[in-house]
Amino acid sequence: MCGIVGFVGSKKGVRVLTEGLERLEYRGYDSAGVAYLKDGKVNVVKEEGKLSNLKEKLNLDDEMTLGIGHTRWATHGKANATNAHPHKMGKFTVVHNGIIENYNVLRSELEKKGYVFKSETDTEVICTLLDYMYKDDKDVLSCINKLNKMLDGSYALGIICEDDKDNLYLLKNKSPLIVGVNDNEKYIASDAPAILDKTKKNIILDDGDYARLSGDKVELFNDGKKKEYQIKEFMYDADAIDKKGYEHFMLKEMHEQPDVFKKTTNPYLKEGVESLLNNMPDFTKYNKIRIVACGSATHAGLVGKCMLEEYANVRTVVDTASEFRYNKQFLEDDELVIVISQSGETADTFEALKIANKNGNDTLGIINEKGSSIAREAKMVLYTEAGKEIAVATTKAYSAQVALLTLIALNIAENKKTINKKEMIKILEDSKLVPGYIEELLSMSDIYKTIAEEIKDQNDIFFIGRKIDYALAQEGSLKLKEISYTHSEAYAAGELKHGTISLIEEGTPVIAIVTDDSIAPKTINNIKEVKTRGANVIYITNRKKESDIFYDRRIIVPEVHKVFEPLLTIIPLQMTAYYLAKIKGCPIDQPRNLAKSVTVE
Ligand code: G6P
Repeated sequence: MCGIVGFVGSKKGVRVLTEGLERLEYRGYDSAGVAYLKDGKVNVVKEEGKLSNLKEKLNLDDEMTLGIGHTRWATHGKANATNAHPHKMGKFTVVHNGIIENYNVLRSELEKKGYVFKSETDTEVICTLLDYMYKDDKDVLSCINKLNKMLDGSYALGIICEDDKDNLYLLKNKSPLIVGVNDNEKYIASDAPAILDKTKKNIILDDGDYARLSGDKVELFNDGKKKEYQIKEFMYDADAIDKKGYEHFMLKEMHEQPDVFKKTTNPYLKEGVESLLNNMPDFTKYNKIRIVACGSATHAGLVGKCMLEEYANVRTVVDTASEFRYNKQFLEDDELVIVISQSGETADTFEALKIANKNGNDTLGIINEKGSSIAREAKMVLYTEAGKEIAVATTKAYSAQVALLTLIALNIAENKKTINKKEMIKILEDSKLVPGYIEELLSMSDIYKTIAEEIKDQNDIFFIGRKIDYALAQEGSLKLKEISYTHSEAYAAGELKHGTISLIEEGTPVIAIVTDDSIAPKTINNIKEVKTRGANVIYITNRKKESDIFYDRRIIVPEVHKVFEPLLTIIPLQMTAYYLAKIKGCPIDQPRNLAKSVTVE
């Protein structure tokens, strides 16, 4: 989604802004711009497309002491230079992440007052409102406080007032923004990577916070009152955003999965003792669990549902956050609401969490980004230890979510005694095999490349599976869609014949997943049904022997305790999507139209 950087301090080339924006490129954007004070005037430069276009229009050595920059992911109005940020009206220039819901009303009022708007954006009303209020008020902080009361929606703002050459202003509400702190310089950023190479110290802001920053001072306010703040250290360093020799972040992040598994599960697995550590809250009192999330996190939730129902014997429903928040929720008192989010900032997931909190339910966040909005709002938090994930398409954070949900299910199962000790011992033993098996599957790149080559000209690809394999099929299909731009659908294998099978013709790729032995014969029947109709069947399974050959390609995943199978089965799906995207020449780490952290609904 959009990215913000801002700088105030002793003289620096304007490249301090473009460098910051480059480090946010991974979030996805379609235009970019900067504004900086030069000879007492605000100089605004914007361009459509990639940052390289903007950089061509700039003298990167141009020195400045105050500036803001932005990468825009278009919402209101096309991706072009006019709609790109920063937006300037009169004395005020702003960059904005988020959406102003009442911008139309505000815009008409301002038009009546004689303002003429240049862009189609919601953002232009912000600088215009500030300019209008400032004409009477003349106090920037007071104008920002009033602005906060007038805007509906989400906004992280970097603000420059032409009359104030020494200070950078900001306002934050429901959209991430942090302040980076050095002795003689201050930064603002919508996400830590933008400034990780400049400073380790940061201030996390709450909704409604606004600030005045100069090179050597931070003044924080909320609702007209000065506020204390704490300076914290970032949890990771600039290294986290290095490709470390891999061609893409996605490839690097897939290869980090063995390590992520260890880091995420180690705090809960007690070496040598046949039980899970009690490092987890006690979840046994809940009669129902509801998981709410978006995108891949929902798919991790679907795997979690299978585990929670199978092992912990607790009824679990999974809701898509964007639907949940507007549906009738029927939340029950004895229901635990789990929200899952890599970024901890996804707008719909955040709102779902607030609804559950307001209803008085216990809430648990399964979050990757420490200190993120959702992590702070949830009543309980368990962190996935995936580290910074840069590729838009999630891989290692998804696996970490699956791993943590599995441990939650086992923890409840152990406490409720719905699992016996013998099986727990086996699980603990097998947990040690998981990283090695993931590595083994990652190393089989030839087979993924071959499959990718064979399916590269197909327009539609189907994934089928039952139960947990269906949950995995959904994630496999999403991965393929988002990075390789190939249309794909995931179906519950038994549902295929109720319509979709009409789409199967000679050569249609069907990726069939069979890891659940209890249901394998049924899925295999469904595979045969598509094979008979000409499908090119890619069979992913842990079954070593079959009585007949009903597939064209087969990938065998190593045998491990059932609870860990999803963590292995997902690897061929991720890797095939990766190599297909690579063959098709797609921008793997930053697929078109997508954003890493979706902070608008
Ligand atoms: C975006 C990303 C997806 C991600 C989803 C949820 O749509 O492109 O990869 O799964 O958001 O993100 P979250 O940060 O809440 O896990």
